[in-house]
Amino acid sequence: MRILYIGAGFVGACSAAVAADSGHRVLVYDIDENKIKMLSSGDRDTIEQCLFEKGLGDMIVRNKENITFTGDYEKVIKYLDEVEAIFMCLPTPEKKDSEGESDLSYYYAAAEKLALDLVKRKNNSQENYLVIVNKSTVPINMVDETQKIMDKYGVKNYGVVSNPEFLVEGKAIDGSLKPDRIVIGAWNQQDFEIMRRIYQRFYNSPTVKYIEVNPKEAAAGKLLANFLLFTRLVSVYDVVGRVAESFGDIHFENLRQILTTDERIGKWGFYDSLYAGGSCLIKDAKSLKKQLSETGANTEQVQRVLSGNAFQRDNFFARAQKEAKFDWQNKKIAILGLAFKRDTNDIRNSAAIDAVEFLLDKGVEEIRVYDPAAMDIFQKNFDPNKEKRFAKIKYFDNEKSVLENSQACLILTDWAKFRSLGEIIKNVCPTPYLIMDGRRMLTDQFEELNNLGYDVIAVGSPTKKSSQSS
Ligand SMILES: NC(=O)c1ccc[n+]([C@@H]2O[C@H](COP(=O)([O-])OP(=O)(O)OC[C@H]3O[C@@H](n4cnc5c(N)ncnc54)[C@H](O)[C@@H]3O)[C@@H](O)[C@H]2O)c1
Repeated sequence: MRILYIGAGFVGACSAAVAADSGHRVLVYDIDENKIKMLSSGDRDTIEQCLFEKGLGDMIVRNKENITFTGDYEKVIKYLDEVEAIFMCLPTPEKKDSEGESDLSYYYAAAEKLALDLVKRKNNSQENYLVIVNKSTVPINMVDETQKIMDKYGVKNYGVVSNPEFLVEGKAIDGSLKPDRIVIGAWNQQDFEIMRRIYQRFYNSPTVKYIEVNPKEAAAGKLLANFLLFTRLVSVYDVVGRVAESFGDIHFENLRQILTTDERIGKWGFYDSLYAGGSCLIKDAKSLKKQLSETGANTEQVQRVLSGNAFQRDNFFARAQKEAKFDWQNKKIAILGLAFKRDTNDIRNSAAIDAVEFLLDKGVEEIRVYDPAAMDIFQKNFDPNKEKRFAKIKYFDNEKSVLENSQACLILTDWAKFRSLGEIIKNVCPTPYLIMDGRRMLTDQFEELNNLGYDVIAVGSPTKKSSQSS
């Protein structure tokens, strides 16, 4: 089939790559010229430097006959004569200074531009039927809005489908090849039929649930799935973790064993962390709250989950002063991990962003940072040319050098290699020294490090203060 993707971000690039791998002919358009250049490079490493997703580079290179990335809209216009499906993979962040309203400006800009040329396809005859597929996470009623835009410009012979994306960053390619479910929301059989052909490799598969519903149910399902996942994380961080922190002689890992062996509770999300970040959970919960409140429904529970998540982060940072009497002023602090989680270079809503703001506010002398994948993006975000105070941030290319000369470290991302940080800390960080483990990466060494004179604050454990620092 001929498919057009608009937006070559995590969702657009990954799902286009999988479509190409499924044998479809795919054109991917993005306004970011640099991204297009890197994704078109034909070089695995360059592709993954742009979007750090395991397997994405290989898949694009392997299917290069089937996939083209372009920033040239003329190519898009030509393609409209033969295209059967257009996937909208645009950002839908929270609108600035709003309480959860989705910023649909990227979507509208792309959709209106598209509509202008859709009416001219096939010499103005518009005789080829196509579906416009909302893959972005959009408000529940978005299907009506998409239709309004198309109708306003006189687009004919089309359907609007909702096909929410459930990918997990860091496992997007693996997950897209072995999804739990494919959800298609459409109003009629013709549209379902087109989508079945696109997802032929999963339709009737014994291992994948192929779910056909209407477009509003599909869009609501996505928002609710994210909300339930978010609720689980926040309950574990802010309730289970708090119990493990607040009573003596309780290990988080032992509580986990007791709780997760109950099948009704399940295993997912049972780790402790300082924050549920990333581009989706927070903004989707806020959007759900906003949409619900517009119907007049009660939104207290959604707000509680959002507040619990923010509390967990603020509480973690505050423990240094409150529980270890650590004074941040004029100290050199190391941050290990800038990405919002391991195996990605995505820093949207990462704990490191808030940590930097917190530390600058506290008057530290220097913030030393290291991440295996997200340094370039972080550096662009905290450009000292934009704000002079960002000059306090120094970038290092390994764990040892970032820790040297620091008086405290914050472990903020769960990169697997950070599990061996304890040994490096012992070698390069003389005591007194504060270790703040926001991911329980050093669980097995808390006792030993504390006995060696380190103060240790970890999510899900009571603070271990060394006699040296008191
Ligand atoms: N990242 C995830 O894990 C994930 C998972 C599920 C759903 N989603 C949803 O999918 C959507 C996209 O997310 P993402 O993470 O891929 O975002 P992203 O920011 O990584 O990518 C979006 C891309 O769209 C491009 N773009 C913006 N305006 C454009 C225009 N007018 N024409 C063409 N391209 C344009 C941007 O340059 C960017 O490359 C969002 O609604 C998000 O909520 C994301």
